[in-house]
Amino acid sequence: MGERFAPKVPVTLDAPKDDPISPEELAKCDGSDSSRPTLVAMKGIVFDVTKNPMYSATGSYKVFAGKDASRALAKSSLKPEDCVPEWYDLEDKEKTVLDEWYQFFSKRYNIVGKVEGAKNT
Ligand code: HEM
Repeated sequence: MGERFAPKVPVTLDAPKDDPISPEELAKCDGSDSSRPTLVAMKGIVFDVTKNPMYSATGSYKVFAGKDASRALAKSSLKPEDCVPEWYDLEDKEKTVLDEWYQFFSKRYNIVGKVEGAKNT
């Protein structure tokens, strides 16, 4: 991947964690509770996006917060009904878009765990 999708301002990341995070806990981390981080998951991998107000309760991308939004990211959709984990049946082009978002997030946000029960291969 090299410099592709690299942030303009360097980001120092923590070692990725693989703590299990239940879908219920993930849902609570939607930016509405200031005692919790704001999380976005894709392919079952959970990223901490707290630092970016775009995912906060008033942000343009709040629809992704507290969810595994794989399908929406793959389809370039902001519809709440697309913010679901299922991506396996998508077209190759859409799967590539999802992989690109994964690279983008990986370079910006700490991985804080895995969604319990997620299928991520
Ligand atoms: C009119 C259409 C859209 C406009 C004008 C727009 C604009 C933007 C802008 C200005 C950024 C910030 C880029 C940066 O930080 O350098 C951004 C980021 C982003 N956009 Fe959009 N966008 C649009 C549609 C969409 C759609 C349909 C999706 C659905 C997947 C989407 C998902 C995202 C995501 C995930 C980010 C990354 C935020 C981050 O974590 O930094 N956008 N967009």
